[in-house]
Amino acid sequence: MMIPTPSALAYVPFVSVANMMRLVHSLGPEHFLSELAAYIEEDFRRWPDFDKTPRIASHSRDGVIELMPTADAESYGFKYVNGHPKNTRTGHQTVTAFGVLSSVATGYPLLLSEMTLLTALRTAATSALVGRYLAPEGARVMALIGNGAQCEFQALAFRALCGIGTLRLYDIDPGATAKAARNLRAQGFDVTECRDAIQAVEGAQIITTCTADKQYATILTDNMVGAGVHINAIGGDCPGKTELHRDILLRADIFVEYPEQTRIEGEIQQLDPDHPVTELWQVMRGTVEGRRNARQITLFDSVGFATEDFSALRYVADQVRGTDFHEPLDLMADPDDPRDLFGMLMRARDA
Ligand SMILES: NC(=O)c1ccc[n+]([C@@H]2O[C@H](COP(=O)([O-])OP(=O)(O)OC[C@H]3O[C@@H](n4cnc5c(N)ncnc54)[C@H](O)[C@@H]3O)[C@@H](O)[C@H]2O)c1
Repeated sequence: MMIPTPSALAYVPFVSVANMMRLVHSLGPEHFLSELAAYIEEDFRRWPDFDKTPRIASHSRDGVIELMPTADAESYGFKYVNGHPKNTRTGHQTVTAFGVLSSVATGYPLLLSEMTLLTALRTAATSALVGRYLAPEGARVMALIGNGAQCEFQALAFRALCGIGTLRLYDIDPGATAKAARNLRAQGFDVTECRDAIQAVEGAQIITTCTADKQYATILTDNMVGAGVHINAIGGDCPGKTELHRDILLRADIFVEYPEQTRIEGEIQQLDPDHPVTELWQVMRGTVEGRRNARQITLFDSVGFATEDFSALRYVADQVRGTDFHEPLDLMADPDDPRDLFGMLMRARDA
């Protein structure tokens, strides 16, 4: 059977993992993170333009599979992503993802991309972007608790956007800390491997928690958080999965992406449903203050929102256009007569 060559409309540009890695290296990881953060910020600043909904989560005993859609007037994007904290024991990743950007006008996909690397990059870019608004002036030291897949991306983004050069690492698995320390020293960071979370937060102006555990964990207790610190909490992102003791939340000013989703998934699921939070898009637009003084404890209760993935897909689409960092995928059936889909199928048999 000789299948006829698909027409131009059949093809969707596909960015594989290999091409994403080539793209990141061609630009330089920190340059990529900085530019990506600018796209994310641009989209936060036009927040009312987006169709927004909490992500659609399918929970099971060991994890979650989620769909994250959003759209503006021109483009629609969605990400498929999982979160399975036990996965690393069997050689799988905790978080993997792929996503699509489509034309609202035709509904046709404009880009299909791997998003496992892109999620780590966009999560880190968002964290550091928020850090620029909330971290105390002159912050140079960051504690990184949880040294798995996200950890090094967080460090690079915080150096690129906030000037962090010194890292204090801790993970319950010393092998994970050794891995992260090796990777991060090779990137020129000043790294201290710590024996526990208490030691990790000593002298840190920013505390990033990126642990994975499907439970109400207590990575940080109240006594570990001094005045003026910025907490970047990214690992509490599902119902029943948090990282911070409730008392910290009561002392902190809490900043969120999309309250309707964060109240279900974030650290604030531990608080009353009307506990005050500040929406980051308003801070980025300059209508609400970010950090007000040097003693304030700020908390980014990060769960990851669909617009960040939309921004990331938009950025990648702009970068790969006219390059060989993508390949054509025969994804959209395109019969000569748009109403003769069946005829196309039959002609393929006869060809
Ligand atoms: N907010 C977001 O936008 C966003 C995006 C991506 C991932 N995440 C979340 O970030 C977390 C980390 O993801 P990952 O891909 O790096 O996972 P990972 O499994 O690769 O790494 C998690 C690490 O946390 C460590 N850990 C678990 N419990 C700990 C504890 N009590 N103290 C110290 N370390 C502990 C594990 O040993 C592991 O090394 C996950 O919970 C994931 O769901 C959030």
